[in-house]
Amino acid sequence: MGSRFALILALIAILWTSVFSDLIISKLDRRIDLTSHVVRVSSTLKVVNEGPHAVSDVLLSIPDFQAKNLAYLSASCNEGKGKTKGSIVNLPVEAVQPGGMPPNLTVYSVSLLKGLGKSESLSLDVLAVFTHSLEPFPEEITQADTQLVLFQDSAVYLSPYQVTVQSLSVRLPSARVESYTKLQNTKLVDSEIKYGPYESLPPFSYNPVVIHFENNRPFAVAQELIREIEISHWGNVQITEHYNLVHGGARNKGGFSRIEYQARPSVRGASSFRHLIARLPPRAHSVYYRDEIGNVSTSHLWGDSRKTELEIEPRYPMFGGWRTLFTIGYGLPLQDFLFVSEGKRLLNISFGSPMDEVVIDDLIVKVVLPEGSKDISVSAPFPTKQWEEIKYSHLDIIGRPVVVLHKKNVVPEHNVHFQVYYKFNNLSLLWEPMMLISGFFFLFVACIVYVHSDISISKSSASYLAKLQWEEVQATVQQVQNVINRCLSVHDKLEASLHDLSRMGDVQACKAARKAADGLLKEYAKELKPLLVFLQSSPQAAHILPKVEELVAKEREMQERLMLKHSTVVECYEKKSGGREIENRVASHQQKLTALRHEVDDLLDTVDEI
Ligand SMILES: *[C@@H]1O[C@H](CO)[C@@H](O)[C@H](O)[C@H]1NC(C)=O
Ligand SMILES: *[C@@H]1O[C@H](CO)[C@@H](O)[C@H](O)[C@H]1NC(C)=O
Repeated sequence: MGSRFALILALIAILWTSVFSDLIISKLDRRIDLTSHVVRVSSTLKVVNEGPHAVSDVLLSIPDFQAKNLAYLSASCNEGKGKTKGSIVNLPVEAVQPGGMPPNLTVYSVSLLKGLGKSESLSLDVLAVFTHSLEPFPEEITQADTQLVLFQDSAVYLSPYQVTVQSLSVRLPSARVESYTKLQNTKLVDSEIKYGPYESLPPFSYNPVVIHFENNRPFAVAQELIREIEISHWGNVQITEHYNLVHGGARNKGGFSRIEYQARPSVRGASSFRHLIARLPPRAHSVYYRDEIGNVSTSHLWGDSRKTELEIEPRYPMFGGWRTLFTIGYGLPLQDFLFVSEGKRLLNISFGSPMDEVVIDDLIVKVVLPEGSKDISVSAPFPTKQWEEIKYSHLDIIGRPVVVLHKKNVVPEHNVHFQVYYKFNNLSLLWEPMMLISGFFFLFVACIVYVHSDISISKSSASYLAKLQWEEVQATVQQVQNVINRCLSVHDKLEASLHDLSRMGDVQACKAARKAADGLLKEYAKELKPLLVFLQSSPQAAHILPKVEELVAKEREMQERLMLKHSTVVECYEKKSGGREIENRVASHQQKLTALRHEVDDLLDTVDEI
């Protein structure tokens, strides 16, 4: 494709030069950083106006096949003259469609703040960041293989302007290079490939190169990240981030052996990653990390006055194509992020993921404002899709306004601050306490009435007997709940034994845990029997009985599922099956268990409310 593309460009160049040749690039340095899975191209252009008229924009052109993966593009110029370092000024960049351009090119225009007069020059720094631009080749590798990727670009700078002198350097993660296109003036030194210098090239010059090299850096791609930022005027900003993360590199084939991995993780798992680091703001508190199974206690947290770092360790090392769903949450002090400006509240907080070098395909940021907030507006340093929602939680009357921002293709460069402005009447802050106070007041009055009426009932009366029976029903239901809760904690212990098995590989310990659990659950079933018999025989329990019976049945179903899952996992370990296979085999049990656990929790709540 590259060479046909180059030919078309050469033809167009002849037409173009005669039309727009006022600007030339007298010197160009381009540096491509391929040391992670995010591709960063930084270029320094010395632009000279050789025409008779002032020029107000500089055009940048990127081939479509690269532009579709462009995540971030910025241009800045250094105001200082000559060698003195002046202030860096960011310039506006926008996509444009000028006439007479070759096909398959995306063109951006950088607006210069002051026009560039005749014979004047300026130095422009351009940073372009691309995602999904390193193509794994081979596409599938085994656990023991290292990961090789392909990168394509042009050895010369593709520009609508003539370039007098230029050079390119490509930085690789290591010196292990399978192959690279060799042109005149090409050299590989350590982990860097240099092309050029090349002189006096016409507009739209293009010379395709392909580099095939080893890259085992974490290819961490969040296919979706939902960040919820909830403001409480009582002093806290609560952040909850839901990740759907995959290893975006070469797909793992032939399964995974934890035994091999544990023996030599750097050899038998070079292409995998074990953990990720989240850099949280200083003074973050109540930090947690959980996945579908529960809290993951193997994460580590440390920090000082300038930062807090959370190390996230998924339950399995991540190989190509593998996915993990998890949530991290933390609280932040409100006064560090919420300010008052011109009669409005101003939230100023970072936009993207706090995690190192994670590419986010779809980022949704939800800012939940306090109930009663008005006149909401958002200021973000790049375009985002925006809409508003309402969120209800305990004690809310009209619900909390939520501002939602959506952005595709997000890279660490987007992790900058954005602002949400809103108006808030301090009286609104008193709603919830007022509701609580009036609630307690009514409860108090009700208690007085109740106590009085109780005294007025004669102890021998039928209603007094009924009351005693009802209390007995309540006490029995409570005992049932108690037993069910003990069963659930046995379930948790069993799950924990599986987790330990995956970490330590001790099948015997896991079997012992199973035996103990079987014994306990049998005992609890015995305890339940008389309680149920009593409830079935008590007319007062008639309305609650179906729920209690359902609760007991669901818990029993959960037990059976869990035992199936447990046996399956233990059996897989005994057969030394791969982690992927184990996951596949228990997936349906796991799904059912999660659903059942919800049902049991809901039933426990319902029963609690009698
Ligand atoms: C997980 O940890 C968080 C924070 O420590 C805690 O609030 C939550 O209750 C824990 N959840 C479970 C299921 O243990
Ligand atoms: C937001 O916070 C950042 C970092 O602390 C700061 O540089 C920026 O000026 C703030 N923006 C506003 C509008 O206050």
